[in-house]
Amino acid sequence: MARSDIEALGYLGLQVSDLAAWTAFATQVLGVQAVGRADGGVDLRLDAYAARIRLHEGPLDDLAYCGWEVRDAQALDALESRLAAAGVESQRGGPALAADRRVIDLISFRDPEGTVHEAFYGPLQRTDRPFVSPLGVAFKTGRQGLGHVVLSCRDKAAMMAFFTQTLGFRLSDHIRTEVIPGRPMEISFLRCNGRHHSLALAPVPIPKKIVHLMIEALSVDDVGRALYRCLDQKIHLSFTLGRHSNDEMLSFYPVTPSGFDLEYGWGGLEVDDETWHVVTHETNSAWGHTFQRPPRPQSRRQSDGVS
Ligand SMILES: [Fe+2]
Repeated sequence: MARSDIEALGYLGLQVSDLAAWTAFATQVLGVQAVGRADGGVDLRLDAYAARIRLHEGPLDDLAYCGWEVRDAQALDALESRLAAAGVESQRGGPALAADRRVIDLISFRDPEGTVHEAFYGPLQRTDRPFVSPLGVAFKTGRQGLGHVVLSCRDKAAMMAFFTQTLGFRLSDHIRTEVIPGRPMEISFLRCNGRHHSLALAPVPIPKKIVHLMIEALSVDDVGRALYRCLDQKIHLSFTLGRHSNDEMLSFYPVTPSGFDLEYGWGGLEVDDETWHVVTHETNSAWGHTFQRPPRPQSRRQSDGVS
């Protein structure tokens, strides 16, 4: 199997119903930088990239698209050919969409469950306007990309085949456990760079496409400070502080204003492709990550925290 042309999770687009609440959550809890756009949306910055998380106002409160970075124009062409060979329809984004996404060029396509993915190259770097965290947080990004995203899926075998065989993601490991008591499941963790996983597939029966997204601070103290900001602001934690069994991430899971979780972590494992071998875990966490039912009615719960 050919290696993936995809090198990192470059950006995520989210459709959110309360932009003001999201902006406050992003800047005053997470410590990321918010920049208003001309279209009324908000770009969230974690580093020199012009936009890592793109907020679009709308009713879904869910993932709108995943943006996967490739190296250059040749890699984008190669990925386009790879999709065509697998019978997957894709479209060139065109100049207007490329300008909106702040990239040179992109293609878009859908996974077997209908989620929109984009592959792009040439992201705008705003060295003229350096990233400034409103809370002094520095994030681990670079070649490891924005962080990771966990997608819910109904046909996990089809999703695994699409991401590993068609797109060339590498399997890091599986966790076979009951993240929430009474709900056994196998979650699979896929990588496209040194980050243990940029994508995980979780067969959880929730209406949203996204289970959670993860951003990683460079200092463990920033996880502690963010945890206490959540406690001070009475933000519900779906999972308490803990350390994951597979990627060793020390993290906790506040609920976002959209009802799905965000994992705020530090210390994630870096995988060496030359020495890594696929393993299995029966626990989600080495310690901690205790599930906490939301104070709202159970029917409104939208997420399951997996590593
Ligand atoms: Fe995670």
